[in-house]
Amino acid sequence: MSIDGKIVVVTGSAKGIGAATALLFARKGAGRIYLIDVDDENGKQTEQKIREFCICSYVHLDVSDEAGIKRFFAETDEAGGVDILFNCAGITSVKGIMETDLALWNKIMTVNVASAFLFSREAMIRMERRGFGRIINVSSISALVGGIRTSPAYAASKAAILGLTRSFAKYGASKGVTVNAIAPGIADTPMTQAKDFVYSNNEVPLGRAARPEEVSEAVLFLASGESGYITGQCIHVNGGMYFG
Ligand SMILES: NC(=O)c1ccc[n+]([C@@H]2O[C@H](COP(=O)([O-])OP(=O)(O)OC[C@H]3O[C@@H](n4cnc5c(N)ncnc54)[C@H](O)[C@@H]3O)[C@@H](O)[C@H]2O)c1
Repeated sequence: MSIDGKIVVVTGSAKGIGAATALLFARKGAGRIYLIDVDDENGKQTEQKIREFCICSYVHLDVSDEAGIKRFFAETDEAGGVDILFNCAGITSVKGIMETDLALWNKIMTVNVASAFLFSREAMIRMERRGFGRIINVSSISALVGGIRTSPAYAASKAAILGLTRSFAKYGASKGVTVNAIAPGIADTPMTQAKDFVYSNNEVPLGRAARPEEVSEAVLFLASGESGYITGQCIHVNGGMYFG
């Protein structure tokens, strides 16, 4: 699948699905990759790996920092623009309905949803000018089944991502910009390796969690030239846990 020479921004790319996807983009011919995260140690390690394949910059940026996001995109203007945005940064919590207070709700909604809105809006301005763009967001099986041991705020945030995806897809369609989402089930990443996130392989019809790289392949397709007639959609990458 072709992403030759494309300029890519991946949020939440120090580790997990974001890092795996950035590495796959690099291997598949991306010209330049920006890694956005707040985990500097892992971010710099991922940057080093990707530099074997293409130009890569790790950028310390909290995805809820609107002014910082605007500054970042202004810098990309000078370095050639942005073709592909993968909004992957996210946080979760295992706190249930009765343990979720407004502070936790707001934090999860801000990092998971507002960030995707802010990045997509800035990217859309640039993509609209170029007449080309690909935006890929991350929803979750939690949006569809009411959470898997995760906070109601997480399930709600991932459902909101589907609405956001469709809203941007409608806007971008006449401008050469497609906007889609993926909804992973359980992927084996630092998020699900956390000791309070307990799951069993028996919950997954395919019998195991996804490797992050298996999720990345769906993102690559949605980022590639080959998916140009697909917009406003969500690809479920869940090992058969939910048939959407
Ligand atoms: N792992 C799963 O099973 C699973 C399932 C469904 C959806 N998802 C979603 O996939 C995405 C990636 O998840 P993952 O499993 O790779 O998680 P992860 O925790 O392994 O990685 C998430 C990355 O986002 C970064 N991040 C968090 N808050 C940030 C902030 N404010 N600013 C910048 N960076 C920030 C973290 O530092 C981390 O590097 C998330 O949106 C998550 O909700 C994951």
